[in-house]
Amino acid sequence: MKPLPSIADAEYDGRTVLVRSDLNVPLRSGAVEDDFRLEAALPTIRALRAAGARVVVCSHLGRPKGIDPAFSMRPVGERLGVLGGFPVTIAADVAGAGASAAVAAQGDEVVVLENTRFEPGETANDPDLSDRLAALADAFVMDAFGSAHRAHSSTVGVAERLPSAAGPLLLAEVEAFEKILGSPDRPYVVVLGGAKVSDKLGVIRALLPKVDVMLVGGAMCFTLLAAEGFAVGRSLVEEDMLDSAAAVLASSDGSRLTLPTDLVAADRMAADARHRVVAAASIPGESVCLDIGPETAERFSAMLDGADTVFWNGPMGVFEWEPFAAGTRRVAQAIAGSSAYSVVGGGDSVAALRAMALDGKVSHLSTGGGAGLELIEQGSLPGIEVLRARSGRPAPAPGS
Ligand code: 3PG
Repeated sequence: MKPLPSIADAEYDGRTVLVRSDLNVPLRSGAVEDDFRLEAALPTIRALRAAGARVVVCSHLGRPKGIDPAFSMRPVGERLGVLGGFPVTIAADVAGAGASAAVAAQGDEVVVLENTRFEPGETANDPDLSDRLAALADAFVMDAFGSAHRAHSSTVGVAERLPSAAGPLLLAEVEAFEKILGSPDRPYVVVLGGAKVSDKLGVIRALLPKVDVMLVGGAMCFTLLAAEGFAVGRSLVEEDMLDSAAAVLASSDGSRLTLPTDLVAADRMAADARHRVVAAASIPGESVCLDIGPETAERFSAMLDGADTVFWNGPMGVFEWEPFAAGTRRVAQAIAGSSAYSVVGGGDSVAALRAMALDGKVSHLSTGGGAGLELIEQGSLPGIEVLRARSGRPAPAPGS
């Protein structure tokens, strides 16, 4: 496989470089709620500035349908500047007169373009938008691992038009995923959780033959439990996934795919719901299960203790509500406390680790949720492949 072109191999002094970061961060009341993706984007921006580049950053934010002030990059760009300690100009648009004016007037500041999804052509990888984005810069750096599964103008189209390289964040992500996909040290334990089994069936299928144990919690386990014949009360079951879930279970040799044996059953879906621990075999019909039970958490934790490689994506329960946080917490502690090579992805799992100040205790904290899952499932991503295809092309001279 061709290596990915790196920014270390290119000359950026005096050039304008368009960086695609994933600054799709949660906002609350118009302010950035979680800095994780911003902090992760900064080393690349700093490295390019240190190499003498004028840096223009672009990203999507949320899923707006056209221009919508609630999804403006302004608070995100301003926060990036505060965290990075550099001046920032927010362009008035994505790739129109506002962006051109901001880039033309650029001095030492970082220019942050408006939300790429304000342009209707972004998600369609529209050639005209890709041309206009490419016209803003001399070179392109793809650093948005979290968006590399999207073949959009700002991830793929622009990379086809400019000398392009993978940023350090993207390279680190690819390296981490290669480790868990290649020949991981064994035992290899995967923990999957989160709401929907439909989001993860492909990953289960791809990983099941490679792992020693796959531990499944979160609401997604109820479709699997239901497919095994358990009555799961009012817990979330994706009826249209039952056949696929049954097929996956049938393909797993007994103990490899491990489901909870006890759960925390609540009388309703609320933080202050009445709740109790029940066996998976006797979930009351009127209850909704919101966490794995203590026996399951201990069993999962013991398996993680003995692992040499771990991948975790998705919480074990509704961890935002304290009565249902114990399972996720136990898994997070076990991974953080183990000496295994560990990769954790998905917004909720990363948020849980960060809330517990355990984020420094895992080997790789991924900025990708869906991107990491698709990389596991497909083996590559469009935003990465386009860089490989472009590898070896010479960068233009400054100003050309
Ligand atoms: C994410 O948060 O997973 C990425 O930023 C991709 O966002 P999207 O699913 O809206 O494309």
